[in-house]
Amino acid sequence: MMKILVVDDQSDARLIQKKILQQRNFDVLEAENGQQALLLIAGNRPDLIISDIMMPEMDGFELCKHLKSDAQTAEIPFIFYSAHFVDNQDIALGKGLKAAGFLVKPMQSKQFLESIERVINSTETLKDRLPEQKDKRLSDQAFDSEHKKRLLSTLQNKIEKIEQSEKRFKHVIQSIPSAVYEADAISLERFYYCDVVYDLTGKTRDDLNQHRPHWFELIQSDYRQNIKDSLIKHIKGNKDQFILEYPLIHENGDRLIWVEDRGGIERDASGQTVKLYGAVSDISLRKQAEQKLQESFEATITSVSKALEKRDPYTAGHQDNCALIAKAIAEEMQLDGEFIKGLELAAKVHDIGKIYLPAEILNKPVKLSPAERGLIETHSQVGYEIIQHVQFPWPIAEIILQHHERIDGSGYPNGLKGDNILLEAKILSVADIIDAMASDRPYRKSLGLEVAMEELNKNKSTLYDAEIADVCLSLYQQQRIPFLLN
Ligand SMILES: [Fe+2]
Repeated sequence: MMKILVVDDQSDARLIQKKILQQRNFDVLEAENGQQALLLIAGNRPDLIISDIMMPEMDGFELCKHLKSDAQTAEIPFIFYSAHFVDNQDIALGKGLKAAGFLVKPMQSKQFLESIERVINSTETLKDRLPEQKDKRLSDQAFDSEHKKRLLSTLQNKIEKIEQSEKRFKHVIQSIPSAVYEADAISLERFYYCDVVYDLTGKTRDDLNQHRPHWFELIQSDYRQNIKDSLIKHIKGNKDQFILEYPLIHENGDRLIWVEDRGGIERDASGQTVKLYGAVSDISLRKQAEQKLQESFEATITSVSKALEKRDPYTAGHQDNCALIAKAIAEEMQLDGEFIKGLELAAKVHDIGKIYLPAEILNKPVKLSPAERGLIETHSQVGYEIIQHVQFPWPIAEIILQHHERIDGSGYPNGLKGDNILLEAKILSVADIIDAMASDRPYRKSLGLEVAMEELNKNKSTLYDAEIADVCLSLYQQQRIPFLLN
């Protein structure tokens, strides 16, 4: 079987050539560069060599030169197969080295095979001609000079192409209204590619270039550590993208510039972070609109809560207490800030449904009858119905609906169990029971926080979520339960 050596630094390119050559039952040997090819040829002489030109360690021209100057290997037909060295002077250098062919990558498999077979068919002729042409081969000096010229010209072409693409890159970057950057994965130092960074920080080019403040120092101090921790978490995680939002310190102190920092994480084959790339955009207008909306949500909740306070001062104080306790539990559980905001607002109005109950029942100084209790229990459904049509960014109405549900399904109104109950509602139900037991009621005096904690401990995992109950018990032990006496 005829042996063909394929020399190419790209494994994909070698594989394609191998597959094509195997269609004609050639035995294919492979080498990654000229050096490796020489070692292989010494022990396993091929009948034909197909070689790339641009390769590390020893390029195709040098390999051909070596083989042709050694009587042992001079007669092995050598074919260049290159994508970069393809102009007439390259071909002339190849011919000067007595290459049997010069093919330009990429080729269709049919043409590739035909070209290889043409060379094989003419091998006998080549053999006959070689001795007479020996003196016409390039001298070492001529080869070196021509080889250098070809390398230089290819390098120049490459540099020109890189310069052109860099120019295009700059134009594209400058037309984006964001500060595009590249950052070191370890120091997190950033290099900005465009001028938008001066608008975002109010700093001049000189300020940034001479003093070179760290990216981190440009973030408002309240947010600094959180944002840095969050970025490091992204780097250590397995996602390749991140989105952060934070305010920047603007040179003109009275302005708050909120930015969105969208970035990508470049990792090497072992998963190590190499670089970060991203763009920082001004989102101040969006933030202002969000802020206004947030204020109007809070105003809505406050006025709803005030409406109930007029009729039932006890419930109003209870709702405020629940909001404090629920917030403390959620913070201890390290839940997200937005989640806590929704929980806090829901807690402030969770008993709003009681507005429909007769004041005599709400303020009855003796224990309620089963019928009266049944009436009281409608308040979570009624509260849901009052709030459900207000568009909040949090599930306020659902939290209200579920705040008397219990883990084992024994709660009301829907007897939901375990994970079917919202986390916010589970936290609120714990805060609710603690404040209810530890406060004075129209029909009894406060039972005290101690008794409330015993109830929580006794019924954790059955009525209340065990993790939430434990967090609350631990807060109590540390005397960190916020509690307003009413
Ligand atoms: Fe309630």
